[in-house]
Amino acid sequence: MELNDAIYQRRAVRHYTDAPVPTTAVEQLLQAARQAPSAVNQQPWAFGLFRDPDLLNRMSEQAKVYLQANLPRDLALHHLSDTISHPGYNVFHHASTLIVIYAKPARFDPIEDCCLAAQNLMLAAHGMGLGTCPIGFARPWLNLPEVKHEFGIPLRYTAVMPIVVGWPAGPTPPVPRLDPEIVCWRETPGRGLSAVPFPFAPPPTRQP
Ligand SMILES: Cc1cc2nc3c(=O)[nH]c(=O)nc-3n(C[C@H](O)[C@H](O)[C@H](O)COP(=O)(O)O)c2cc1C
Repeated sequence: MELNDAIYQRRAVRHYTDAPVPTTAVEQLLQAARQAPSAVNQQPWAFGLFRDPDLLNRMSEQAKVYLQANLPRDLALHHLSDTISHPGYNVFHHASTLIVIYAKPARFDPIEDCCLAAQNLMLAAHGMGLGTCPIGFARPWLNLPEVKHEFGIPLRYTAVMPIVVGWPAGPTPPVPRLDPEIVCWRETPGRGLSAVPFPFAPPPTRQP
């Protein structure tokens, strides 16, 4: 798949088939995630894999209860509160696999590094025909000490990006994007940069 196709066609998928995600596919996703750049190459990520539908259903119920009790006021006033409290709502959209990217304690920017790994994972999944969706709703619950304890996650690890993975049950329409807000654009006046054709020829190699 062309890189631009992956970037433009990836969607947050919320309807999945029951088909399991092969272990080899999960391994490929982790390989893609770890290709992400990271500050001073710390690679401060760790992965939690949840691939049992019964367990995922139970986790969804518990995450919902926690979320409803602790929903920030601005969200509680939003329609999200109704969505979450609906009995049929599954936080993980009934996907067969959940991959949680945890940030390990690190000196420089571990959260940012994990987000970059997450995007790699989601684009790679899309290239394999798999759907993904980040699940921010589950993050507060996943970060509870007792939940980390249950799954053997070190307390000092932080759940940054829970991502469900599965086979899409159908196409997902795109959602609109805002135009880029350009707050600053400075360049050397008079260089005619807007007239430079793209794709442009690489600059000639300098002679020593
Ligand atoms: C940090 C983050 C948290 C998100 N949390 C949820 C979530 O809890 N549930 C959900 O269905 N989608 C969640 N999403 C998906 C977004 O709603 C989705 O990416 C956005 O609407 C744009 O749609 P697209 O990804 O299809 O382009 C989350 C996305 C991000 C980046």
